[in-house]
Amino acid sequence: MKSELRLGLAGLGTVGANVAQLIERKSELLAERVGRPIRVAGVSARDRTKNRGFDASGMAWFDDPVALAREGEIDAFVELIGGSDGIVREAVEAALRRGLPVVTANKALLAHHGVALARLAAENGTEILFEAAVAGGIPAIKTMREALSGNDVSRVYGILNGTCNYILTRMEKEGLSFDACLKDAQDLGYAEADPTFDIGGYDAAHKLAILTSLAFGCEISLDSIFVEGISKISIDDINAASELGYRIKLLAVGLKTDTGIEQRVHPAMIPARSALAQVDGVTNAVAVDSDLLGSILLAGPGAGGPATASAVLSDIMDVAGGFVPPTLGIPPARLQPYQRARMRAHEGGYYIRLSVYDRVGAFASIANRMAENGISLESIVQRKAAAKNGEEAAPVVMVTHETTEAAIRKALDALSTDGHLKDEPQMIRIEDLD
Ligand code: HSE
Repeated sequence: MKSELRLGLAGLGTVGANVAQLIERKSELLAERVGRPIRVAGVSARDRTKNRGFDASGMAWFDDPVALAREGEIDAFVELIGGSDGIVREAVEAALRRGLPVVTANKALLAHHGVALARLAAENGTEILFEAAVAGGIPAIKTMREALSGNDVSRVYGILNGTCNYILTRMEKEGLSFDACLKDAQDLGYAEADPTFDIGGYDAAHKLAILTSLAFGCEISLDSIFVEGISKISIDDINAASELGYRIKLLAVGLKTDTGIEQRVHPAMIPARSALAQVDGVTNAVAVDSDLLGSILLAGPGAGGPATASAVLSDIMDVAGGFVPPTLGIPPARLQPYQRARMRAHEGGYYIRLSVYDRVGAFASIANRMAENGISLESIVQRKAAAKNGEEAAPVVMVTHETTEAAIRKALDALSTDGHLKDEPQMIRIEDLD
């Protein structure tokens, strides 16, 4: 058997502790599978005294993760602290400068600095592995980077935030309010420390930025992502979606278009019969459309200690076995510059819900504004009788045929100035799925 692989493990939160426990508990099996023992030789965390469910007595302790990366007697560095800058970035860079492979679950680090870090890794003859950074335990990175490497990908998309999917699922199935569901998600530990990161769509955007780069062989571009969260989704929208044969999901989409790459995270109506619509609760899913394989869908746990540790462990085993592919699938010098397609050029169908005063000319004004902007309606329904005094409003739900984001925004802006709407119009994009 070859010499052991000595790991430096920085961060002993839920995932870090799970990884250390698994390496202890499964040591024989792991050594058997990779042909060499794997040992946590050094650790770094905030509290040295805490019992984390594994025997830390033989491990060198470092208060500072950067010192562990720089000086630890280790062969690989495992970063499970999180955050994109400060000591985390410093520690990862220090490990790479030593030529050590880095394993991380850190989506923010990759989404913000992935290309620079991939370059630094390549310059030092090493790589970064990050299976756990996207969709927790689902092997999304390996699938994109390895299994699909001979395919031309046209779209990568999915449900990348468990908190949002949990909230939307419970609102739909139990008729609960957004706030009540968010509180439960926090109590159950699904949400990030700052839940606006989840419900604002930013967590999903970080994951999408990484998937897009792997899908299209381009540089990571987090700033190019159009992001809209789920906080404006109401029970009225969820019920209307159900009547129209859709379900509402927070979708993250990376799409190749004629003008460049479109990246967007937003609530979307997807056909209720589609496989993706069946992905409920905290479960994540990653779907890919490509030329050779057609459409695939991977679904599973997107968060949680054991599931995320499973992904981290698979990277550690790759390092132990000497299988360390280029960080972003291809050498950084061959990554294409990111070419952004503008969101205003997005094409698709739209759901629009208006709160319309019951006045002469209200419907005519809606129809005119749509026609002026070349928008064809698939359906328009006034969902209940309007009040008689002309001051109360009734919900009007429209579904458009395929049009552009620019046309929809112009039509809705114009409608808002016509004086027939009680509230801001609600608009939800419809995603075309097979
Ligand atoms: N807070 C994330 C989610 C899990 O709700 O999916 C970690 O990425």
